[in-house]
Amino acid sequence: MIIVKSPREIALMKEAGQLVAKVFETVEPLMKPGVSTYEINKVAEKVIFEAGGSCPCKGYYGYPAGTCVSVNDTLIHGIPSEKIILREGDIVSLDVVAGLKGYCADATRTFLIGTVKEEAERLVKVCREAFFIAIKQAKVGNRVGDISAAIQQYVESSGYNVARDFAGHGIGKNMHEDPSVPNYGTPGTGPLLQEGMALAVEPMILEGKKETKVLGDGWTVKSKDGKLTCHYENTIIITEEGCEIITLTEGEKKLHV
Ligand code: MF3
Ligand code: CO
Repeated sequence: MIIVKSPREIALMKEAGQLVAKVFETVEPLMKPGVSTYEINKVAEKVIFEAGGSCPCKGYYGYPAGTCVSVNDTLIHGIPSEKIILREGDIVSLDVVAGLKGYCADATRTFLIGTVKEEAERLVKVCREAFFIAIKQAKVGNRVGDISAAIQQYVESSGYNVARDFAGHGIGKNMHEDPSVPNYGTPGTGPLLQEGMALAVEPMILEGKKETKVLGDGWTVKSKDGKLTCHYENTIIITEEGCEIITLTEGEKKLHV
C-alpha cells in the first residue's frame, strides 16, 4: 500500500532530509586516505544522534551500524569496519538514513578519495546523472516504470549495468515503504505517481557485469566480477510541478536550483 503524505508529514520529512544532508557535509573532510569506514560511520551517527535523530538501519534485520559505507567493488550495504581503510583512488559510497520526529529520509553519495582513475570518475558521474535524468519522469500522472526505465536506459547506453536484486523504495514513517522503485523497467508500467508520494530513487550501477554477490557477513554486496560499482540516492516528494529533492546539501542546492 502506497502511503501519500500530508503537507505536515512532508514538512517533517524535509527536516529528516536536511539532517541526512548535514551528515554528508560533516563527513566530507574525512573522505581521505588513511581513514577507516568505521570512523566515517561513527561521525555520521554522531551527527544524527546529537540532532535528536535515529538510525533506522541500526538493528534492521540485525544490521550492525547506522550507515552503509561501500568501497569500490562493494555496491551497497558495506558494514563499517576499522579494517577497511580508505586509499588514494578509491570510490566510497555513504548511504545514510535518518529518522527524525517520526519520519525518515534516505540518501547516498559516492565520494572520490584523492585522485581517482578517469574510468572511476566517469562511473560516478553517470550514476549521479542517471538520478537527475530519471527524476524528470517523477511527476503526477507518470508511473514508477517511467523512472525505472529512464535509469536503465541512461546507464546501459553509457556502457554500464544496473543492479537487478536491489531497488529504490517508498519512504515515510518507515525507511522502506511501497512502492518498489527498481533501476530497470518499462515505461508506462507500475504504480501511478501521485502528489504527496515520497520515494527514495537510487541508481545502483556496475562498471562490468550486472551480477552481484553477498558476502558471508550476510550484508556486503559486491560485484561478482570484482569491477567497480556506484550508488547515488535522494529522497524525493512528488509535487504539483514535478518533484522536490529533500536530501540535498546547501552546496548541492546551489547547483540544482
Ligand atoms: N539506505 C538503504 C536503502 O536504501 C538502507 C539499507 S540499510 C540496512 O534501503 F539496514 F538495510 F542495511
Ligand atoms: Co534507499
